[in-house]
Amino acid sequence: MAIEQPESTAKRSIAAIILAAGRGERAGQTDGPKQYRRIGGRAVIAWTLDAFSSHPSIGPIVVAIHPDDDALFSEAAGALPDRVVTVKGGRTRQESTWLALQALDSHQPEAVLIHDGVRPFVDASMIDRVIAAIDEKHGALPALPVSDTLKREAADGTIAETISRSGLHAAQTPQGFPFDLIRETHRRAFEAGRIDFTDDAAIAEWADIPVRIVLGSPDNVKLTWARDIFMADQRLGGRSSSFPDVRTGNGYDVHSFEPGDHVTLCGVAIPHGKRLSGHSDADVGLHALTDALLATCGAGDIGTHFPPSDPQWKGAASHIFVEHAAKIVRSNGGRIANADITLICEAPRVGPHREAMTEALSKMLGITKNRISIKATTNEKLGFVGREEGIAAIATASVVYPGELPE
Ligand code: CTP
Ligand code: MG
Repeated sequence: MAIEQPESTAKRSIAAIILAAGRGERAGQTDGPKQYRRIGGRAVIAWTLDAFSSHPSIGPIVVAIHPDDDALFSEAAGALPDRVVTVKGGRTRQESTWLALQALDSHQPEAVLIHDGVRPFVDASMIDRVIAAIDEKHGALPALPVSDTLKREAADGTIAETISRSGLHAAQTPQGFPFDLIRETHRRAFEAGRIDFTDDAAIAEWADIPVRIVLGSPDNVKLTWARDIFMADQRLGGRSSSFPDVRTGNGYDVHSFEPGDHVTLCGVAIPHGKRLSGHSDADVGLHALTDALLATCGAGDIGTHFPPSDPQWKGAASHIFVEHAAKIVRSNGGRIANADITLICEAPRVGPHREAMTEALSKMLGITKNRISIKATTNEKLGFVGREEGIAAIATASVVYPGELPE
């Protein structure tokens, strides 16, 4: 009888055991047990739990945790549905499994999947493949054919022999079995004093229960060493489900006109019957942008960094301010995603200079031109801008910072 899914599972469920009671010695303990380390902004165990609790065929879930880890687990897992329970794990993986199996007695599930809590990349289709291969007499496990050539080492560190890899597989989890069969086998193994089996397929083998191999996944790695955790975090860094730390800043500036023959806007000198008055070159667009950039990392405003009272900024070209703000952003690890400036003036006309302004900003910020937008509008002859007493500018900048949004 093949176990049907998903319809039949609503009645006789398929349970899952997630093993998370180990100490993670090989990964190093400095940051706590590996199942609670954060990858892609969440604890390893939270990813693993999600994979099972969101799978439509899985009913009750038992998580084996270490007696010292109650607080770590609740913090990592957050609010959980009632069908997820925890049990205290044992001294070995096998003992933890045995204790978790007993916690399922009240459910009497048809089958149980037993999974390493430190394999967070298990996916729904692999779970489906394992479930589909279990029947009354057979267990199932995901595995990958070994692809490297295998060598046995001699005592002196040289190669003693080359082992044929034909038929060899690397075993993964979840490993699935008919519940009654694996529970009884675990009981027998435990009572026989055998506590050294490293996976459940090995216990099944000891009890002559045939186990089918289904295709595993190279992504379904077990996080064993510190490097595995680092790599897993890197991998999740690009995931759409993680929340990148994107910040937006805005800026606003106004300068009034005085007699002159040109204005400087967004780094471009434009002939005009007046000039803008100010301590520096009075480039409103760049001043607004400087504030917008500084705002993304809480670094104050243009006046904080370039006090108007300081004589060294007299007549300064304002690209200095923008470049300084961009440097502060970068020193905080930020990468500028885009900059958008709106110039508000009746004259001069901005359109003919837009390309040159975009070019100038692209150089100042070190980003491509399609990440820069220069817009202009008149003020419909209203207010100080309408009376041509000055020019205003607003700017928005988006910057992506490293890490994750705080929760
Ligand atoms: N495990 C468990 N109970 C134990 C030992 C291990 O539930 N007494 C779990 C681990 O938490 C892990 C899985 O079994 O999710 C696979 O074991 P392993 O990778 O060896 O984890 P650790 O035993 O924690 O690591 P190490 O062997 O490096 O100490
Ligand atoms: Mg171990």
